[in-house]
Amino acid sequence: RKNVTIQTLQALYRKNEPITMLTAYDFPSAHVADSAGMEVVLVGDSLAMVGMGMEDTNAVTLDEMLLHCRSVSRGVKSAFTIADLPMGSYETSPEQALTSAIRMIKEGNMKGIKLEGGAEMASTISKITTAGIPVVAHIGLTPQRQHSLGGFRVQGKSTSAAVKLLRDALAVQKAGACMVLIEAVPAPIAALVTQKLSVPTIGIGSGNGCSGQVLVQVDMLGNFPEGRFLPKFVKRYADVWGEARRGVEAYREEVKGRVFPSSEFCYGVDEEVVREFEG
Ligand code: KIV
Ligand code: NA
Repeated sequence: RKNVTIQTLQALYRKNEPITMLTAYDFPSAHVADSAGMEVVLVGDSLAMVGMGMEDTNAVTLDEMLLHCRSVSRGVKSAFTIADLPMGSYETSPEQALTSAIRMIKEGNMKGIKLEGGAEMASTISKITTAGIPVVAHIGLTPQRQHSLGGFRVQGKSTSAAVKLLRDALAVQKAGACMVLIEAVPAPIAALVTQKLSVPTIGIGSGNGCSGQVLVQVDMLGNFPEGRFLPKFVKRYADVWGEARRGVEAYREEVKGRVFPSSEFCYGVDEEVVREFEG
């Protein structure tokens, strides 16, 4: 597979072929996403929750993100790689944001960055893109701002909220965003916003009218124990947790029963050596 570039993504958009994006946090998850043909691999700050077991995404630091970005970049052969700027690494000023974005490229080996926010982030997006770093803008449900949104809830449900969403989308596009990620917005609203833009939208929980889709890999692979809350928009394509659990249990049983390791998993030695050693 050829390297996925910004041009590749634009070509898919022009052909009206959906762009596929998936999160990854380490070498194996990056490897499987890339080898299965994902065009974009995102090191999301959802890492904090599903990768590090934190309560929400707000505690993960830029340094922690960078460590994971480096592992992901080693597992990706051709996908376009982007990483979230975590909370606290870009809000203070456009300069702070650019400094963090540059670290994502130089130390994290990423190709672009994503940040949360709409019109109010325009000068920041423009600062980063002017430096030659592709920016994906994340609007709609922005988890880093959960406390001012009043939790994880659907966005753009009222006419005024939909109008604001469109304004944000147009503002980030004008500021130079190469893609607009729309989270948890009713499908018809996200579809209309998509139609009014000239850059691709990537939907999560925002219906089929977006220019592409993204999901959190751990969620869509079912790599978590029973009982964990899953948003309505997550479809489970596999039962990785169940499969892993079956494997670990089988291993446990075989160790306890001295079934494992059987001879095929052991190294041989000359009988004479053993006898001499015994004696
Ligand atoms: O952090 C993340 O994984 C994301 C996706 C849910 C879009 O931002
Ligand atoms: Na995120």
